[in-house]
Amino acid sequence: MPPLKPYEKDRNLLSPNRNIAPITATVNEQGKLCIGGCLLSDLAKRYGTPLYILDEESIRTSCAAYRESLDKFYEGSSLAIYASKANSSIAISSIIKSEGLGLDAVSTGELITAMQGGIDGHSLFLHGNNKSQEELLIAYNNQATIVIDNEQDINILEAIVPKDDKKAKLMLRLTPGIECHTHEYIRTGHLDSKFGFDPDKIEEVFYRLKDCKWASLEGLHAHIGSQIFELQPHQDLAEVLVESMLLAKRIGHEIKDLNVGGGLGIKYTLSDDPPTIQDWIKVVAQAISKACQDRGLGLPRLICEPGRSLIGSAGLTIYKVGSRKIIPGIRTYLSIDGGMSDNPRPITYQSEYSACLVDKPLEPPEENVTLAGKHCESGDILFKDLAIPHSNFGDVLAVFGTGAYNSSMGSNYNRIPRPAMILVRDGGSDLIQRREQPEELLRYDVLPEHLRALM
Ligand code: LLP
Repeated sequence: MPPLKPYEKDRNLLSPNRNIAPITATVNEQGKLCIGGCLLSDLAKRYGTPLYILDEESIRTSCAAYRESLDKFYEGSSLAIYASKANSSIAISSIIKSEGLGLDAVSTGELITAMQGGIDGHSLFLHGNNKSQEELLIAYNNQATIVIDNEQDINILEAIVPKDDKKAKLMLRLTPGIECHTHEYIRTGHLDSKFGFDPDKIEEVFYRLKDCKWASLEGLHAHIGSQIFELQPHQDLAEVLVESMLLAKRIGHEIKDLNVGGGLGIKYTLSDDPPTIQDWIKVVAQAISKACQDRGLGLPRLICEPGRSLIGSAGLTIYKVGSRKIIPGIRTYLSIDGGMSDNPRPITYQSEYSACLVDKPLEPPEENVTLAGKHCESGDILFKDLAIPHSNFGDVLAVFGTGAYNSSMGSNYNRIPRPAMILVRDGGSDLIQRREQPEELLRYDVLPEHLRALM
């Protein structure tokens, strides 16, 4: 891989998903990498490593790109909602709220985090293919929209929604049967998927919901997958959604919202070439408008649900370089102080990233290393082949594009505490998730009496 040049940004700065590094990345006069006006080696000293860093300007720029493109390219009303599974915290929720976006959650944890961050029920959406009664109740009580995924959701709601009280606001998720080119684990729109109602089932569900006095079916939803670079699948999706909207209307439902899900990819490596947020919205907006026009339907509110493309490129993780093992003629393993517990994507999806030494971001590579994590697992490898300048013990290395599906999918494997997360902005930094301490990992352990007696 050619050396990463963090200062080389796509000309279209308004779409952060097109850049490997956050849009505020600069290299100072000493040739050292700064993000959000902060020198990364200083952040490593101040907060320790591994450290998740989020660039507030990149997040806000992505929010604005979604909001403004929807306004520009869609004549009806619209709302972008953040898929908080990508990275959920009170601070992130509050940024989302301040940008006027909504938020989707899939668990009690994500719901309460969003509400603590100021997201109110009217802009909150609950997803999930196996929602608990507790999750459904929290959503209902806060007047969030519940995206029903299967009959069980309807059965539970029917039992818990008080008969003479406010109606539950529902959106129905359907499996659109659209294939797209992404990793098989993160494809959701093809027919063999655990999510959503089959298209040939929805008529029956529309009839059932018609008789439910406690419910108001306000929208339809579909999500076809994640890290998608093609635009065609979303054009096809518009047809499927609008056709279903027509069917719902015939049965007597006034569908106000169409939610096209998320899925726009980001640039992890130099060869990745995702569309801009603006182009993605333009295609989606035009396809929905045309499909409605063709059927003589008025424009619904257009909702989209980005996760990765909203926050992925705003994030990076910094690590310290540790041990080195040279196997002559085979490879050099360079180990860092984190790995699969803070970034499980390489071991799960064989995902590729870009990285550089924070104090030598522009220097040409001198060696090829295999960058290994510190976990007890041979597969804990973040990079099979990383070309970088020579590094010494303690040097700080940055891995870009870790703002989405890293912290949120992290674990405590090997009882390794979770890293801290900070937000950088205008030369300042704030802690938004403090570093977990090893002792805290014992918090939930319980020693039964008969074992204590043996000690
Ligand atoms: N809406 C729904 C219903 C979803 O299931 C997802 C992602 C999104 C929106 C947001 O999609 P995005 O814009 O982030 O592509 N862990 C995987 C990604 C799983 C995506 C799950 N659903 C990864 O690390 O690649």
